[in-house]
Amino acid sequence: MSTTTKSSENWGSRVGLVLAMAGNAVGLGNFLRFPVQAIQNGGGAFIIPYLICFLIMGIPLLFVEWSMGRFGGKTGDHSTPFILNNMSRDNLWKYVGVFGIFTNLAVAAYYCYLESWTLAYVWKSLSGAFAGQSTEAVSDMFTQYVGLGTSEPIIFWVVCLLLNTWILSRGLSGGVEIAAKVGMPLLIFFGIFLAVRGITLTAGEAGAVNDGTVGLNFLWTPNFASIWDFKVWLAAAGQIFFTLSVGMGSIQCYASYMRERDDVALNAMSAGWMNEFVEVCLGAAILIPISVGYLGVEKVVEMTKTGGLGLGFRTLPYLFQQWGPLLAALAGMAWFGLLFFAGITSSLAMGTPVMGFLHDEFGWRRQTSAWAFGIAVFFLGLPTVLFFQYGVFDEYDYWAGTVSLVVFALLEIILFAWVFGMDKGWAEITRGADIKVPVFFKFVIKYVTPVVLTAVFLGSLLSSGGILDQLSNKALHAEITAATDPANLEFLKKKLFFVNLSRIGLLAVFGGIALMVYIAQLKRERDGRDKLRNDNA
Ligand code: TRP
Ligand code: TRP
Repeated sequence: MSTTTKSSENWGSRVGLVLAMAGNAVGLGNFLRFPVQAIQNGGGAFIIPYLICFLIMGIPLLFVEWSMGRFGGKTGDHSTPFILNNMSRDNLWKYVGVFGIFTNLAVAAYYCYLESWTLAYVWKSLSGAFAGQSTEAVSDMFTQYVGLGTSEPIIFWVVCLLLNTWILSRGLSGGVEIAAKVGMPLLIFFGIFLAVRGITLTAGEAGAVNDGTVGLNFLWTPNFASIWDFKVWLAAAGQIFFTLSVGMGSIQCYASYMRERDDVALNAMSAGWMNEFVEVCLGAAILIPISVGYLGVEKVVEMTKTGGLGLGFRTLPYLFQQWGPLLAALAGMAWFGLLFFAGITSSLAMGTPVMGFLHDEFGWRRQTSAWAFGIAVFFLGLPTVLFFQYGVFDEYDYWAGTVSLVVFALLEIILFAWVFGMDKGWAEITRGADIKVPVFFKFVIKYVTPVVLTAVFLGSLLSSGGILDQLSNKALHAEITAATDPANLEFLKKKLFFVNLSRIGLLAVFGGIALMVYIAQLKRERDGRDKLRNDNA
């Protein structure tokens, strides 16, 4: 290895590391996805499975991924293909690790687009674009926006990508860490401001029909009936994955830049619980109480039947207007600003594994690999921007942001607990630990989490509307059969085409990364670097 490719990258401070990890986890998922999942799955009925999934899947996977990452860092590996490869004598694990790059790239492709909406909406809020507009007008603005009625969305998207690229090219301590140290406190500050406003909303005030507590009660009144509904469990598990950023490879990557004896146990818990605080306390106290306050539970449930992005972008800016011009502009800035900070600290975490891989295996410099990431996201994201109406965005979200996470998490925990071995694994988790990790988790990681993950995977595969139905486009074909209006039929057929095309594209990306991993392996053998593995496994 030449000196230029040697990794000198490290975290600047522990606070920086934990904030960056929390920033990785805290994302658009906490504020947009969580409330919508909760509403779609019956409010109080969702919370119990959600919390149980956090305990039996979320926390164990956090321990596993943090310690895997730090383990990989010892041999200078910063992305999952070779982190995983080093944990076994078997050479195939590196192809499982392809997921840990693929997911980041494919999620970034649609996530950065969503992130750029928040930037545009901060601007719109501050410039008074929503002032004096009707509900319909505000809602139509969003339709126009994503329908590319103007060039505005493209401009904001490119600005957002450039911003990500620039921060990434400054490295961890000089870029990502600073973004987290600025973004996280501001996000929490904006979040508390809006949550207080949401909770204290009173019926009759500024046109509200319900108290803010009506929405909160809907969310927090446990409903034990639907605990037997398997779909609610799947949704809860999916949300835990997405929000904690587990099963993605981005935690392993961040953790690989730690030092060998740095604590993982307490750090993992700090970042993980910070995410839960933001999700369950702030994420739950803004979108739902405010929308329910103005629209009532039924209307809100109705509105989220077909997806939830509408609530945050179509409805909230209008509702804020009821608070008078000054507060409306402030609330708009706070809401979309917090979404932006949540988003960018997550998309930076998606870039890092890609850059780590290019650096470790191909010796690319930081700037070069940051640009490579930015450009790749641009081209991969272009279809989600141009053909948003045809469901390309949702398709990416389904395969990369939902299915891949479960598959990867299941395989990595098997590797960790059964191939690498639970005794060695436990030693990794507890080495340098600043807290005493309950031995209970050793048992959970070895037996409970793999079994639960298998159940989640099989459930997602076989349940109605699950992976198999999705693959055969069952719902879409049914819609096509039922369609009578020719324009609608035309639209649905076009949609089917784009959906299939997105899948082929995603598959090609996965294949391309696998090919690069294969080439990297050949290079390692040629350079005699392959030996690293056997000393550690
Ligand atoms: N956890 C983030 C959220 O809640 C999303 C996220 C962060 C992510 N890092 C990721 C998704 C890496 C995929 C890959 O919004
Ligand atoms: N598909 C989700 C819905 O319509 C929205 C969504 C997808 C989302 N991915 C996201 C929201 C990531 C926030 C973050 O309900």
